[in-house]
Amino acid sequence: MFLYSFKMHNLISMQDIKKEDVAEILHRAEFMENVCNFKVKYDKWKNIVLGNLFFEPSTRTRMSFEIAMLRLNGKVSNFAEKLSLTSLEKGENLTDTIRIIDSYCDMLVIRSPKAGTARRASEIAEHPVINAGDGSNQHPTQALLDMYTIKKLKKKISGLNIALIGDLKYGRTVHSLLYGLAMFNANITLISPEDLRMPSFIIDDVKDINKNETTHIKEIYDKDKDVNKMTKEGKFDVIYLTRIQKERFADIEEYEDIKDAYKITKDAISDNTIVMHPLPRIDEIDREIDNTKNAAYFEQAKNGIPVRMAIIDYLLENFYKDKK
Ligand code: NCD
Repeated sequence: MFLYSFKMHNLISMQDIKKEDVAEILHRAEFMENVCNFKVKYDKWKNIVLGNLFFEPSTRTRMSFEIAMLRLNGKVSNFAEKLSLTSLEKGENLTDTIRIIDSYCDMLVIRSPKAGTARRASEIAEHPVINAGDGSNQHPTQALLDMYTIKKLKKKISGLNIALIGDLKYGRTVHSLLYGLAMFNANITLISPEDLRMPSFIIDDVKDINKNETTHIKEIYDKDKDVNKMTKEGKFDVIYLTRIQKERFADIEEYEDIKDAYKITKDAISDNTIVMHPLPRIDEIDREIDNTKNAAYFEQAKNGIPVRMAIIDYLLENFYKDKK
């Protein structure tokens, strides 16, 4: 652990990242697109080893971290294991695992079903730690790639009307994204079933952190309201859909009751609206939207590579500068 952590060495939560750090990462991601397209050569992190620790299923996040590191000419060691909640609760096991992998690698990426694991890892590890999703808490790298995609497609974030729709209670991507969008003065509408509302402590915290910004946050959670009608009438610049997080429900019947509540059809999308989704999607998006200019979710997933390259680059640079 570093006593002099004046620079950002870890990315654990959008709650503790500064606006300047976000802007710097988004800026570096543009450069990283050129590295991916072989327009620029960049091998500053040659032979640096990233430990990719996934204790929960993942396709995009795990692979895109791996590929991001490979595109930076670094190396990757993958550790994917189904860690049962009971063994997580023992605590000691994870502490030892982190300590050992930290001694093998130069940077750690960690995904866990339990909120707070990444933060704990960052307190144990000497090397930079990146949170790749911790329970229903945070998923900061997803928020950064979401913001990069919005900026790329809409040329700005400030002043945009953005709707976050679906499971806002358990969806960690929307928790992180709300912090990020609020930093850049977006107008945010939260649309969800009543039981899956954005936790009020997050809304309060976001408002508190951004009290000097002009962000507006509005909530709609009436289950009888037609989500397609709301989407159509809202004329949003961006609609961001999320999957109902089945694995986080204690009672599966509750999930069954709610699972079909939010589905967006092609007719609900205005001409200039972009449709985003962190994926995997179940049935939230009518497949007819896939081939329209409104669909941004494949581009969004693709942007995961340059944005994660930028995050790795920024954290390693800060870490080695401070170490000197
Ligand atoms: C998300 C996640 O893991 O939180 N997926 C991802 O990383 N792209 C969203 C989800 O699982 O619904």
